[in-house]
Amino acid sequence: MRDLICAQQITPELFSEIYETALKVKEALRRGRKKFSTLRGKCVVNLFFEPSTRTRTSFEKAGKFLSADVINVSASASSVKKGESLIDTVRTLDSMHPDVIVLRHPCEGAPQTVKKFTRASIINAGDGRHQHPTQALLDAVTLKEHLKELKGKRITIIGDIANSRVARSDAALLKSLGAEVAVFGPSTMMPRYPEALGVKKLNSFEEVAAFSDAVILLRIQLERQNAKKTFPSIREYATLFGLNGQKLAKLLPHTLILHPGPFNRGVELNNAVVESPRSLIFNQVETGLAVRMVVLSMVCNRIDQLKEEVQ
Ligand code: CP
Repeated sequence: MRDLICAQQITPELFSEIYETALKVKEALRRGRKKFSTLRGKCVVNLFFEPSTRTRTSFEKAGKFLSADVINVSASASSVKKGESLIDTVRTLDSMHPDVIVLRHPCEGAPQTVKKFTRASIINAGDGRHQHPTQALLDAVTLKEHLKELKGKRITIIGDIANSRVARSDAALLKSLGAEVAVFGPSTMMPRYPEALGVKKLNSFEEVAAFSDAVILLRIQLERQNAKKTFPSIREYATLFGLNGQKLAKLLPHTLILHPGPFNRGVELNNAVVESPRSLIFNQVETGLAVRMVVLSMVCNRIDQLKEEVQ
């Protein structure tokens, strides 16, 4: 795998390899290991045109743990502010011989476009409403680690499905791994054709409760909604679609709770849900670091070295 642009690139065989290796890396990090030599001599550029805490930090940490040189470029502190285009920014960086460019951009298709203008591998760290493949990977690894098997498991994604690259990426990957995926949310936040995602549409919280082995809660993507005000309002959304302690008690006793973050306490979930033992939210972040170490090693063609180092 030279580039990672979308979740559809991840075959079940590739997922198995990523899963096995990521769990070993996660275990090594938990034991306190801080350094691997897998990417010595490689250079990773994190090029972020949108805010990020989890993705940017974990790619930076992943590169550093693997001994790569890591350079962070944020649009707000770069010559993009002076009018330089994305393509010229990538060509400029390419002149400095990076091996990997990790790109987050508000426009759908940006990673695919810049691929033509650099010799570096491109990892899509989120492009508009389109895709966030490493989030899909870390969600699938987290789910498999806790559910043991994804085949036949029922996963419901709740919230602003229309504007979510996480929903699109998760649905594609989880379905290819044999899970049944459903969506639930306000009709104003549903894609015009949910069937195009290949998912089932649930119509009430009772249906969600009866269906789900896991629920993935999503933030309302205000930055991608055209309207000045969201409908339903934030307060109405919290009442109608937010998860709280009482609703948590109505889910199946084994139902797991995930959220890609950033999350808004009091909107899509409340304190009782965040702090519940069924919440895997911070576990997802920990898994994300290991998954991104595996993905960086793969696109640099050094996965065998990483596997040897975590034996
Ligand atoms: N889940 C996710 O992409 O979070 P960040 O925006 O903080 O990177």
